[in-house]
Amino acid sequence: MIADIADLRLLWPYLRADKRLMIIAGILIPMISGLETVLPLVLKQTIDHGILGKDTHALLLYAALYLGIILAAYAARSLQAVVSSLAVLRMIKTLREKLFLHVMGLKAAFHDQSMSGALVTRATSDFDNLSESLNMGVLTSVVDVAVLVGCMAGMFTLNWRLALCALVILPVVGGVVQWFSKGLKAAMLLARIKIAALNAFTQECLYGHTTIKLLTAEVSAEGKYDVLNTQYRDAQMGSVVLDATMFAVLDGIASITLGLVLWVVVAGVTKQSLTQPSWGDALSAGVIVAFVAYIQQLFEPLKQLGNKMAMLQGAFTSIDRIFGVLAKGDKVAGELKLPALRGDLVFERVSFAYGEGLVLDDISFALKSGESLALVGATGSGKSTIVKLLAKLYDGYQGTITLDGHDLSLLEPHDLRQLLAIVPQDIVLFDGTIAFNIGLGLPGVTRERIAEAARQASADGFISRLPLGLDEVIKEQGSNLSHGQRQLLAFARALVKAPNLVILDEATSSIDRESEGIIQRATQSLLKGRTVIVIAHRLSTIRQCDNILVIDKGRIVESGTHTQLLAKRGAYFALYQGFAEVAEPS
Ligand SMILES: Nc1ncnc2c1ncn2[C@@H]1O[C@H](COP(=O)(O)OP(=O)(O)OP(=O)(O)O)[C@@H](O)[C@H]1O
Ligand SMILES: [Mg+2]
Repeated sequence: MIADIADLRLLWPYLRADKRLMIIAGILIPMISGLETVLPLVLKQTIDHGILGKDTHALLLYAALYLGIILAAYAARSLQAVVSSLAVLRMIKTLREKLFLHVMGLKAAFHDQSMSGALVTRATSDFDNLSESLNMGVLTSVVDVAVLVGCMAGMFTLNWRLALCALVILPVVGGVVQWFSKGLKAAMLLARIKIAALNAFTQECLYGHTTIKLLTAEVSAEGKYDVLNTQYRDAQMGSVVLDATMFAVLDGIASITLGLVLWVVVAGVTKQSLTQPSWGDALSAGVIVAFVAYIQQLFEPLKQLGNKMAMLQGAFTSIDRIFGVLAKGDKVAGELKLPALRGDLVFERVSFAYGEGLVLDDISFALKSGESLALVGATGSGKSTIVKLLAKLYDGYQGTITLDGHDLSLLEPHDLRQLLAIVPQDIVLFDGTIAFNIGLGLPGVTRERIAEAARQASADGFISRLPLGLDEVIKEQGSNLSHGQRQLLAFARALVKAPNLVILDEATSSIDRESEGIIQRATQSLLKGRTVIVIAHRLSTIRQCDNILVIDKGRIVESGTHTQLLAKRGAYFALYQGFAEVAEPS
């Protein structure tokens, strides 16, 4: 628990930045504690001076004071609740942003391994949990502790013997709270696990609703849903029952304490008349009423303590997980920013493995500015991997890669990618308009520039036939566009950067003949007059290139122009048979 509390320190830099929270801590918390401590004392004066002393003036004065303090304490508590909630929400927002940017910046290898989707989803629920725990638990606990200390001080001022009587009960309360909060923590955790399972299943069913309908599997899906739903309800009931029982037990302890104090009072008063007249002053009717009020005030927060401690434990788990992800510092290195790119690229004896086993084995080639290079080879031979290294998605290769004479490992990754135009093999479109998807990598790009890029990529034809043109909204990853149309959008997206080095990873999936013709023409205009690396599957593309590298199992096995390689009748010739069959529509 102590080690856990140290976790709260991690939040401190975020909380400290918020002036509002500092205002609560500095002014409101002592104020609430002070006001609530004074309240029973005013009650005592009202009774002793006003009622018993038959002083109407004092009675009115104290009654007014009592009302005033109650209103002020109420206002201070409300203000504290609002301000602390705002501060927590702000902190969570900052942390959430930080986590998102951090995870996005982590190496591709991290995302390959750790199911980053699941990780981020979990972190999202951790944020909700943290925000709730902080609002309901931690921050109000600080106020509660301040009030508790105030009450004890008030009790000791009134009568230290009675105060001691009332406080001997505290260790018992501590034990009870500790015991229940352990159970509550387990119950809350179970409920969270169950709701996560229920949500996951619901999502799976909604996603696969067609499959369920086609398999007529509604009944078994409903059955499983019912089981998960029941488990969640049972888990919630566990925590509700524990919470209510603890509340009742603590209420009982509060009553016993009250009885104990009254019993000591009675004993004291009886004794006083016999041997100890000194008790007399201290034990006025006002003191007794004030004591009863203090005891009630003392137990009010204690009854909530078990619940809050369980929440606090939950918050610690969340903090651990969120900061655990933030502590992963796996980013691709590099600081150097180039003002522009000519496009002179050299791979020198480059080898690379994702995990076990070399995927690239001793690759060397050079590409001069203005030339075009085709990479061809069987599926899985390592062509896309070459591009991923060039884009610094992965590091940890052996050998050297230089770009315009600069060692690639020194270049700043984001800056480098700004200078490259890469059309990846798998095209991902985002929710938003076509214009948004084209201009994605260039914040502040003009509409004219987007339209121009669409024209250069031959995407303007189909876009102009859409009802809203560039403003047409792309649905669910482009499900309202054909494969070829998505390809053309990816070309436009690359061209909008007006790049000096274009890298095209041609999609292998086959498309209809008409789209094939459009794509071929678009590809040719994309490649014309630029420095390009193209991972090619179409003969028309390959023929256009100055140089061709044939890759097999991570090695360069042949290189040359189309005519030279055909004449060799080797690996390229064998591949060529395949090209000729699938890729030459006319
Ligand atoms: N993220 C990854 N983690 C581990 N192994 C990978 C990863 N990406 C690719 N590989 C492996 O590396 C090898 C080369 O993959 P790469 O994607 O470079 O092939 P490719 O030549 O582009 O194939 P294709 O023509 O099918 O696109 C394959 O054996 C593949 O299984
Ligand atoms: Mg590939």
